[in-house]
Amino acid sequence: MKILMIGDVVGSPGRRIFKREIPRIRREMDIAAVVVNAENCAAGSGITAALAKELLESGADAITLGDHTWGQKEFAGQIDSVDRLVRPANYDTGCPGRGWRIVTMPTFSFAVVNLLGRVFMNPADCPFRAADRVLSEIPKNIPVFVDFHAEATSEKITLGYYLDGRVTAIVGTHTHVQTSDAQVLPKGTAYLTDLGMTGPYVSSIGRDLKPVTKRFITGMPSRFDVADGPSVLEGAVITFDPATKTASAIETLRVREPYQ
Ligand SMILES: [Fe+2]
Ligand SMILES: [Fe+2]
Repeated sequence: MKILMIGDVVGSPGRRIFKREIPRIRREMDIAAVVVNAENCAAGSGITAALAKELLESGADAITLGDHTWGQKEFAGQIDSVDRLVRPANYDTGCPGRGWRIVTMPTFSFAVVNLLGRVFMNPADCPFRAADRVLSEIPKNIPVFVDFHAEATSEKITLGYYLDGRVTAIVGTHTHVQTSDAQVLPKGTAYLTDLGMTGPYVSSIGRDLKPVTKRFITGMPSRFDVADGPSVLEGAVITFDPATKTASAIETLRVREPYQ
């Protein structure tokens, strides 16, 4: 059985390529379920209930988030009404939303977990302790898929080995740059440091190059709009056995629109 996990969807260009490509990929690769990180899907920052619905209708079965979870002001009041969506499990207990949930498909069920890194990122509770807590809560017979939204490769790799044999897959998001280290770890957990990005690639990780370049040179703040131009869709396909919950393969995926 195969699950497709997709890297951060950025703005309307990201949503467009997701909607166009996912049904075809699902069919051609015989994908049983799709998990998408959508923390940048609303104009580059956050998500709304309407956009979550749009992604779920476009072929997503579960949505994960990250440090931009609260990027759209109204979303804090909406999150509890959105089905099939998780925000980082290591947020404070006072935050609305859920850090993990079980997604029921026609032929099987899986758990999806979202965790946030804390190296070079804003404060969050310990992702390792949060993973232990979450795994003690999830029924033992359910395959678990983790999106670890983090900046530092070392933190991601370390949590990967920490969860080896305890989850079906742990993949990273947040950097918007796909890594080439897809592998099944010794105890049967599929691992990838970062899925990459789903959005405009002639850009600085999805944002218009002009203001970002100016900011790097001058240090002055400016508004970073989502870039225009051709998009890429990036992620990874994980092959696993739902009975043993063990992964047998993980392969990265990239679909690139040509330059216009
Ligand atoms: Fe992020
Ligand atoms: Fe992101």
